[in-house]
Amino acid sequence: MAVLLTGGTGYIGAHTAVALLEAGREAVLADDLSNSKAEVLERIEKITGKRPAFYQIDISDGAALSKVFEAHKIDTVIHFAGFKAVGESVKKPLDYYKNNLNATIEVLRAMLKYGAKNLVFSSSATVYGPYGESPLKEDAPTGCINPYGWTKWMSEQIIRDAAKAHPELSCVLLRYFNPVGAHPSGLIGEDPNGIPNNLMPYISQVAVGKLDHLTVYGDDYNTPDGTGVRDYIHVSDLAQGHLAAVSYCERHAGVEAVNLGTGRGISVLELLRAFERVNGVKVPFEIGPRRAGDVDECFADTQKAASLFNWRATRTAEDMCRDAWNWQSKNPRGYEITSKA
Ligand code: WQD
Repeated sequence: MAVLLTGGTGYIGAHTAVALLEAGREAVLADDLSNSKAEVLERIEKITGKRPAFYQIDISDGAALSKVFEAHKIDTVIHFAGFKAVGESVKKPLDYYKNNLNATIEVLRAMLKYGAKNLVFSSSATVYGPYGESPLKEDAPTGCINPYGWTKWMSEQIIRDAAKAHPELSCVLLRYFNPVGAHPSGLIGEDPNGIPNNLMPYISQVAVGKLDHLTVYGDDYNTPDGTGVRDYIHVSDLAQGHLAAVSYCERHAGVEAVNLGTGRGISVLELLRAFERVNGVKVPFEIGPRRAGDVDECFADTQKAASLFNWRATRTAEDMCRDAWNWQSKNPRGYEITSKA
């Protein structure tokens, strides 16, 4: 039976596809390539020796999605596909609600139509908003402060209601903290469109000379060094967390929200210093004003994933910095193929 990865050529999707293929599972990838490149398929094949079936479709197009389910015996879906830029979601809320919620609805419709029972949903710690206190447990108060976060929270609710109406569905809502790093081969990694919003790709692009310096968004937070504290988790650990969630779904029914983090908080300056130390590079920075919406600290309580999945993150901040730099230095322009001529 196959596992369908919607958004499968994206950053986390590609790393999860590699982990599934290396575990001997059949992976089918579907993506509209609006925020990823088909080159990822070549890289997945180079790493695993296997090339997954790929469909370039709009995941919210029910007819197109049906064709994928007709072509493959799919019993599990890992639903990554969705717009994911917080700032862009504030500027284009209707695009975000339409795309992200319709995609979730069409995935559920197709699963019910073709008898696929297991769903792992790519949710986010952003659903906790600024309301919960770290370490955040899954029953912490939720409440979003941007449309992107609301689309994740609303998708979780849509999935819960679908599972109530159709008890054969088995769903896990994975709330990621801050995914960073890259596969140790340096063949796949984070390749954001345009100027990166997130810290690690920004640091990597400064280190490789693509950007001039990092602006640290505020050093007056209520944290040990005044800069924002987050729970950075290696994307390869995150991929393994997805495999653990898939096997949990196969043995259970119902819906569970589960944090995927390390349980450790790291500040902006700590991550920057670790990146410089591990890679022997300089990352010039200056302190700027706070970024709207940022919280002082956000890190996970990881007990539920440990007890339900028997899974814990194992890679260190140094591993994250080393692998992020290995990817960036080998791919200074990401997946963009520089013309041979
Ligand atoms: C981390 C820290 C910034 C950039 C976001 C999304 C969240 C999730 C993960 C999808 C903060 C500081 C950053 C920079 C900086 N994505 N920073 N200079 O905001 O914790 O979470 O990514 O699900 O939904 O909100 O991650 O990497 O943007 O910021 O000082 O140029 O780095 O202030 O303290 P964040 P981030």
